[in-house]
Amino acid sequence: MSERIAVFASGGGTNLQALIDHFQDRPVAEIALVISDQADAGALDRARAAGIPAHHIPVRTRPIAAVTADTLDALEAARVDLVALAGYVRLVPPDLVRRFSHRILNIHPALLPAFGGKGMYGRRVHEAVLDAGCRITGPTVHFVDERYDEGRIVAQWPVPVLDDDTPATLADRVLRVEHVLYPAAVEWLAGVFAAAEGDDVAAAVREAMPLPVDDRVCFCLNEGVEPDRPGIRRMFGLD
Ligand code: GRF
Repeated sequence: MSERIAVFASGGGTNLQALIDHFQDRPVAEIALVISDQADAGALDRARAAGIPAHHIPVRTRPIAAVTADTLDALEAARVDLVALAGYVRLVPPDLVRRFSHRILNIHPALLPAFGGKGMYGRRVHEAVLDAGCRITGPTVHFVDERYDEGRIVAQWPVPVLDDDTPATLADRVLRVEHVLYPAAVEWLAGVFAAAEGDDVAAAVREAMPLPVDDRVCFCLNEGVEPDRPGIRRMFGLD
């Protein structure tokens, strides 16, 4: 059975696009709904272009109860199983987090717990990485809880910081890895969720957490020109 995924996005939606493309020919999951807090988000255009229902649910200046109710209604109407945040800059309402425990993932463009938290998104993250003089960065996929960027880490992938990097070149290198890492992570969770068949999803997730490949997390750290697709899929036990 195909797991139904909702993607929440505030911006351009390149990760959303990677998810749409990835699940086009994989029956394990499908993108069933896209939600944005921004009426003009590129992500909503991408959803519509792919024939996926797209909802604008405003957050700013609205009571949290109203946002929660609208969001839960939309998820229920679309019979959503799992949620993937992809550049969604709002806090997920606590009731929703509870209702979808172990069923919401986020991708962050740095190696958490460093360079995360409220206000740390977009260009700011990469600026902070460069300011700190880090030589390694990379995306983190984690479960979502009631706080920004603090849920349990599912996977990370190292990306080198090069001498002449600017925030823009670094963001681009990390993003290209995100586009491989995130679909693999969502595919992994969809598989775990399907196998749990409504039983204890938390236990199934604990059991299935991806192990570091060859017992090392940071391997294959070269110039990182191309994302290591086979390595990433191996990490999740896919293929
Ligand atoms: C990505 O860098 C992601 O890690 C972060 O927000 C950005 C979204 O980019 N959470 P896009 O809208 O998917 O292109």
